[in-house]
Amino acid sequence: MCSIIGYLGANQAAPILVRGLKRMEYRGYDSVGVATFSENQISVRKGVGKVAEVNSAAQLDALSGTVGIGHTRWATHGVVTESNAHPHPSSSGELAIVHNGIIDNYADLKKDLQQKGYVFKSETDSEAIANLLQYNFDQTKEIKKSMVSTVDQLKGNYAFVAVFEDGTLAAARLHEPLIIGVGKGGYFISSDVLGFIEHTDEVIYQDNREFVIINSTGIQIFDFEGNPVQHQITKVSKELADAYKGDYAHFTLKEISEQPITILKAGDNTKLELDLITEFVKHAKNLYITGSGTSYNAALVAKHLFSKYAKIKIEPLISSEVQYSPNYFDHQSILIAVSQSGESADVLEAVDIAKKDGAKIVSIVNIMTSSLVQRSSISVGLNCGPEIGVAATKSFTSQLAILYKIADKLCGGCMGLDFNKVSESIYKILSDHSKIQSIAKKLKDISDIYVLGRGIHFPVALEASLKLKEITYIHAEGLPGGELKHGPLALMDSNVYVIIINPNDSTYTDTLASAHEIKARGAKILGISDRPNEVYDYWIEIPTISEALFPLIEIIPIQLLAYYSAIEKDTDPDYPRNLAKSVTVK
Ligand code: M6R
Repeated sequence: MCSIIGYLGANQAAPILVRGLKRMEYRGYDSVGVATFSENQISVRKGVGKVAEVNSAAQLDALSGTVGIGHTRWATHGVVTESNAHPHPSSSGELAIVHNGIIDNYADLKKDLQQKGYVFKSETDSEAIANLLQYNFDQTKEIKKSMVSTVDQLKGNYAFVAVFEDGTLAAARLHEPLIIGVGKGGYFISSDVLGFIEHTDEVIYQDNREFVIINSTGIQIFDFEGNPVQHQITKVSKELADAYKGDYAHFTLKEISEQPITILKAGDNTKLELDLITEFVKHAKNLYITGSGTSYNAALVAKHLFSKYAKIKIEPLISSEVQYSPNYFDHQSILIAVSQSGESADVLEAVDIAKKDGAKIVSIVNIMTSSLVQRSSISVGLNCGPEIGVAATKSFTSQLAILYKIADKLCGGCMGLDFNKVSESIYKILSDHSKIQSIAKKLKDISDIYVLGRGIHFPVALEASLKLKEITYIHAEGLPGGELKHGPLALMDSNVYVIIINPNDSTYTDTLASAHEIKARGAKILGISDRPNEVYDYWIEIPTISEALFPLIEIIPIQLLAYYSAIEKDTDPDYPRNLAKSVTVK
């Protein structure tokens, strides 16, 4: 997703902006740009590509001035070109803006502003903000009044920051994140704390429908009607500053490797919250769980846990689909929202629909300062530290760990959870990568891979296939074993690889039968199991653990396999093409 950064202070802005953008690279982007104010004028440099590439080609960080804005763009309106990259100056060049989100009425605004003589140079919706703000400034000659009129006329979801020709920064937010950093040497404003965490851990969380004006005399925050608003400065966790790869080649590998620890930290110090959630869930008439992507796959695992162990029915909902089937929720409903970022637009929309209909919201989330937490009655933190790789890895197992804890509380401790054993088992799997690396070499040139599991292992198969397609670009599909003969068997031949998730539990014999059916059609079988069998062309051993806990460990070798296959294919596992870490647009 687009990332925004702004700075006003005592130091040169451009190097600070470029470093901030680099730290937010994990959010995903296709182009980058910076604008600074110096000697009564605004200068813009931008280009297509990674921050480091564009910086070395266009010398973004050499722009002079102690005030500036920067942006990485993830294209929504208009193709990936330099002219569509941000910052966008207004047609007179007296101000420039960076924007994250979507302006729904940009076409009308553009037409109207063009008729008034304002020139547009890009295909983006964002440029409408620059010219609208310029128009309002031309009318009022006042930054505050021009901001009030602009936010009144914009429709959509947005966070934007503008730099004006007198060196003032102004920024507004509506349903997109924007956080102010208060440092000794100046002010920062960014989509993500990571954008400025190396300079300050003191922040102001600007609320929705608020704008801020920052200049050399200080900072003022207003609501969209222009009334002043007061906010406390809060401190954020310094842990966020850990977002460095260390000795690892990629964040993805680092994050996979952290799981023996993160599994133990999930939901740490949240006994009270977990007890409360258990009470809510017990008394709910209708119980739902929602998420997108990996978080939805975690929700599917929860369905099995709740029904098998707690004898409670919970309905998983794909967040982006909730809007098409309203009327799920009422005052006796509980919606558990699962999200790493807490900022996925689809998840927030599902939550808003549920809240409007009276449901109580419980969230399981990694970023405890996120919009999702603000919308929830209770939140439990994953505590797994920043996850930078676009592919969710450690956040998945942490989400599962919390859902396991809730299920276990609901059944009075019937699951006999032993997270130390899980942690040891993950260590064991991670202790030798060589076999997985050599299998990854074989996957390099294949075009289709299937992942098969039954019962609680089917959602893990879905998650495994998501990992494979996301970072290796191999077509991958998760299948419930029993469905094979209802269609997918037609696809099995000697060009196909099938991963069989087959721990030695109650699904073992049936899944083994599926493996034989596949083998008979010539496909290659890769078994993930604690029990060897001659049907497997390749066997990846996982430790034996109690039946309920297998999902927490069986995903690990497949995460590693996806990672090493990406390396073999020379794709970047941390930043897969076309994807963003935090999908804040619908
Ligand atoms: O931050 P969230 O958990 O709400 O994100 C949801 C999905 O966008 C995310 O899980 C996505 O599918 C991952 N890239 C999968 O690896």
